[in-house]
Amino acid sequence: MENNNKVSKILVVQGSPRKKGNSIALAEQIAKGAESVGAAAERIYLHDKNISPCQACYACQRPDSSGCAIDDEMQPIYKKLIDADCWIIASPVYWFTMSAQTKLFMDRCFALQAYKKDAFAGKQIAIAMSYGDTDTFNSGCVNALRTFQDAFRYVGANMVGMVYGSAEKPGEIKSNQSLMDQAEALGKKLVGK
Ligand SMILES: Cc1cc2nc3c(=O)[nH]c(=O)nc-3n(C[C@H](O)[C@H](O)[C@H](O)COP(=O)(O)O)c2cc1C
Repeated sequence: MENNNKVSKILVVQGSPRKKGNSIALAEQIAKGAESVGAAAERIYLHDKNISPCQACYACQRPDSSGCAIDDEMQPIYKKLIDADCWIIASPVYWFTMSAQTKLFMDRCFALQAYKKDAFAGKQIAIAMSYGDTDTFNSGCVNALRTFQDAFRYVGANMVGMVYGSAEKPGEIKSNQSLMDQAEALGKKLVGK
């Protein structure tokens, strides 16, 4: 019998080097919304992890693959990604797309299905982004949002929503109350509340 009281597990993937920055503040607000309805969130700060770029060896794509051939700090993250019901991915816009830390993480997710068949199926995903320009298109944020949409559609995950806004100084985005409210509401939606 299905346990409807199961606590939703959330993994917050922090793709900005600024721990007190804007994209992480938005992601925290999404997590706060989810936690307010009983979810449990764990954070991963990518910037201090030793994660190499994908080396295109395709070992992860072999039918008998046991995972990514690179033995680095992405290995425990694969397990956490599989265990989590929902992912919140935070990234600043750098040079008209997501940060390098986030892109590197995304590339390495190519191997996720070697750890578990259909690993992306049913994952509930939220994106939090910030940018310096005042315009979502001119900033390049739209490029990154489209990349996330295309990638997660391709692998069969469920993109629940995206929050994004303009801010420069660390944490400045918190003064955008309507965006913070939108982020909190997305957190509840992420876990189906
Ligand atoms: C290396 C670098 C590149 C950036 N490139 C862009 C850009 O292309 N478009 C933009 O609107 N803002 C750009 N910014 C500004 C950041 O996106 C903005 O300050 C954002 O709020 C930072 O998010 P964070 O606080 O989560 O790190 C850039 C900042 C840095 C450090």
